[in-house]
Order: sequence, then C-alpha cells, then structure tokens
Amino acid sequence: MDTNAIKVTLWGQDVGYLYWDNKQRLAVFEYEKRFLENELDIAPLTMPIDSPRSKKRMPWLGNSEKLYAGLPPMLADSLPDKYGNSLFSLWLRENKILTKQVNPVDHLSFIGSRAMGALEFEPAKELGNNSAFDVDVQKLYLFAKDVLSEKENTVLQAENAILWQDLIKISSSPGGKRPKAIVAINKETNEVKSGQGAVPDGFEHYILKYDDNSSYPYAKLEYVYYLMAKEAGIDIMSSELKTYEGVTHFLTKRFDRIGNEKLHVQTLAAMNPLASSYEDLFSVIRQLNLPYEDIEQQYLRMIFNVLSKNVDDHSKNFAFTMDKKGVWRLSPAYDITFSVDLAAPNYANSHSLTINGKDDSITIDDLIEVAKKNDIKNYKALIEQVQSAISKFEEFATNNGIDEKLIVKIRKCFV
Ligand SMILES: Nc1ncnc2c1ncn2[C@@H]1O[C@H](COP(=O)(O)OP(=O)(O)OP(=O)(O)O)[C@@H](O)[C@H]1O
Ligand SMILES: [Mg+2]
Repeated sequence: MDTNAIKVTLWGQDVGYLYWDNKQRLAVFEYEKRFLENELDIAPLTMPIDSPRSKKRMPWLGNSEKLYAGLPPMLADSLPDKYGNSLFSLWLRENKILTKQVNPVDHLSFIGSRAMGALEFEPAKELGNNSAFDVDVQKLYLFAKDVLSEKENTVLQAENAILWQDLIKISSSPGGKRPKAIVAINKETNEVKSGQGAVPDGFEHYILKYDDNSSYPYAKLEYVYYLMAKEAGIDIMSSELKTYEGVTHFLTKRFDRIGNEKLHVQTLAAMNPLASSYEDLFSVIRQLNLPYEDIEQQYLRMIFNVLSKNVDDHSKNFAFTMDKKGVWRLSPAYDITFSVDLAAPNYANSHSLTINGKDDSITIDDLIEVAKKNDIKNYKALIEQVQSAISKFEEFATNNGIDEKLIVKIRKCFV
C-alpha cells in the first residue's frame, strides 16, 4: 500500500498527522496546532496536549510492544485484534498485496472511518459505497465461518464478491478475538443493516458477537453473565440473544455511538500501556479525575470478575469514553463472561490484571484490601450485592438453555 502519512481526525477536526518510519519500524505522530488550542485532551496520560512536547509540536513516537504495533497507544486502539486482523490479511491477499508491504499506518487508512470510537483516518482506503446496506445475518455468519476456516487455500470465488465486501465492511474494524459484526438494527421492524457509517432513522448501533455453533454456548453464557452483571448493579449496555435460522448470537448495544454521533474511546491499554493490575486501573480513574461513582462501579466489576471467574480481564477489556466537551467517564462494562478454559490447566486460567499482587486464588480479603487502599466506602455491601447476583447463575443459565452438566462445572469454579 502507499499511504505512508495519514491525517487523524476527530468530529471533523484535524487532530494530527501520523507517519511510518520504516527504518525504526515505528510510527511518528504530531498534533495539528489548531487541535491543541481547543483543549480536547484525547490521550491525557500518554500524549497530553499541554505537555511541552505537544506544544512544541515535537513528534510523539509509537510504542514498539506487539500490542501497539509500533503506533502510539492512543491510535493502536483503532486497530482490530485477532479476528479483524485475519480478515485484513485475507483482504490483502485477495488484492494481491504482500503483508510485508503493509505497515500499521496503512492498516489505519484501510480502517478509515470504520474504527470503533470516534477517531478517523485519511486518506481512507475506499471500500466501495459507504452507505448502509441490508445484512442477511445468517448468510454473512456462514460466509465468515467458511472464509476463516479455509483461509489458507480459499481463493474467494467471483459469486461471493459482494458477500466478501460486506463482510470486510462490517467485521474488519472491531477489536477482540471472537468473530463479530458491527450492525444497525431497527427494533420495530427487526431489519439489520451494516453499521460502519451513518445509519437511517429508526436504526441503532450494535455489536453482534457470533456464536460459533460448536458445543460451547459462548453467546448464551455471555448473556447469562450480562443478566448477572445487571443484577449486581454493573453498568452494561442493553444486550440480548438473537437467533437467526437456529444459530443464537449475542447482541449488545454500542456505547461509542449515540444515534449517529460518535464518542471517543480509549481502552486501559491505550491510557496506560504499563497497566497490569486493577490498582493501576483505579490509578488511571483517579488521574482522570472521574467521579467517585466510577471508582465504585469499577470496584463492583472487579468483584464480579473475581467471584464469577471472568479471568479474561485484560487491559483492552476496560475503557473510558470522552464526549465532545472533553469530559471523560468510565465506559460501560463489556466482554463480561465466564472465561475459564475448562480444558486447560489451572495456571492458564489466571486473571490478566492482578489484584493485591495475585493473579489467582484471590480471596475476599484481597478484595477488601483493594477497597481500603482505594477509599471505597461501602465495600461490604458491594461484595454482598455481587454475591447475591452471582447466586442466580443456575436460574439464569437454566432459563437460557445451558446444559446442566456445564452449569455444574462452571458453578464449581466460582470463588
Ligand atoms: N457495547 C460496546 N460498545 C462499544 N464498543 C464495544 C462494546 N463491546 C465491545 N466493544 C469494543 O469491541 C472490542 C471487542 O469486543 P469484545 O471485547 O466483547 O470482544 P471479544 O472478541 O470477546 O474480545 P476478547 O479478545 O477480549 O475476548 C472491545 O475491546 C471494545 O473495544
Ligand atoms: Mg474483549
């Protein structure tokens, strides 16, 4: 690809310019002067707008760790993860472009205006018309499965050209390892459209996490955990199970879209690349001056993850949102589910973020210790609130058709 320099924009304003330095294999970012004047601190901890470096318009260097692909963490957040990356690799192959010719800045230009959050990249690699098109969920889901399972040797056939283009548009930008699609749904008519751009009146933005239709009920479990999280008082976007031709997927409303307006989003990984514990997460919350409500909310989520064994609590599974006035808040919770691999040994199922210095065998005393160190007032009531919500697991799981044997196995893992 040939986009060595791109412009980063936010809500129609030029944020700055990003170049790829092939020698260092790092990106170099520079704020646009006018952007620094409007006081939107979009990466307040890693590239603050009032720092001497930003003010003198000296370049900010990318981060060479694998997670950031050589980009500044603020921008690495706009790249997809495993699933989106495998679709991008296929897209490159279909377009006869060698992977080694493509750098992460090119990838952002491929993402264009389809990134999660509100940052956009120009020039955008146009993928045909950007307007919303109808989505046949079952057809695209089956096609995504075919494409990924045969990716080493499938040359996509001509008759699939349109499906392929649609799949790339709705699935190649969101993060995470599981297959998903960004869609817009009209709740009255049940129509599903692509959700990568502005959507027509009556439609709202959702993420559809595909079930993989294997023996493990990913979608149903995530829904059961959603019900428990709500019961525990956790702020989480409205979600539901949606069945299309016998396959049940998990559908969750997007918190980075309000109508067709975008909210700026930064994950914990982007905010603080060194974060490795819940204590670090609380520290970011304090540095951002978020209201006490957000500290308490994050504490609830931490208790929930520990007691219900959501061990996949890595730094991209926590995020912060910024509105057009520059006000930061903790984002709603997402990706909350049972994430112990029942077939794996214990050490493989430890928490990604540590708690009180531990990544497994975490006790209620550890949770209390964190509460005390972070001035959480009513921790006892909060712990009880989560315990009571989790005690409904069996009821919610049974109601949603999860196999009894699996319910027992999962129940045994709870703290
Ligand atoms: N409701 C939502 N609104 C906006 N963005 C979301 C929402 N849910 C998830 N995301 C974003 O999409 C990304 C992928 O979603 P999610 O974490 O649920 O997928 P996953 O494939 O299960 O992830 P993982 O690789 O952590 O298992 C998240 O990292 C987050 O940035
Ligand atoms: Mg995730």
